[in-house]
Amino acid sequence: MPEFHKVLQASELEVGNSKLVQVDGRKIALFNVAGSYYAIDDTCTHRGGTLSDGSLDGTQVTCPLHGAIFDVTTGQVKGPPAPAPVAKYNVRIVDAHIEIEV
Ligand code: FES
Repeated sequence: MPEFHKVLQASELEVGNSKLVQVDGRKIALFNVAGSYYAIDDTCTHRGGTLSDGSLDGTQVTCPLHGAIFDVTTGQVKGPPAPAPVAKYNVRIVDAHIEIEV
C-alpha cells in the first residue's frame, strides 16, 4: 500500500530546481516548476542517466547523458532516445514539508 513519505522542507527546493531524494531505496527526482512540485524516477530509461542532474525547462527535463526529454508532470517521454516513460509519484505539501507517495 503506497504511503506518503516526508523528504524535504519545501523551502529547500527553489523554483526551477531539482533534487535527488531516496525513498524506500528508490531514487526519485523531485522538481519545483513555478511553485508546484513533481516527482519521477531519477533513472533515465535509456542508459540510466540521472534526471535530477538534467536541465529543467518548464515542465520538461532533459537527460544529461544523451538528451532524452521527459515531462516531469507525467513521466512521459517527450524526446528520444528514451524508449519508455519513467514512473511518476504523487506529491503533497504538509506543514511546509514535501511528501512523496511511494
Ligand atoms: S541515459 Fe538518458 S538519454 Fe541516454
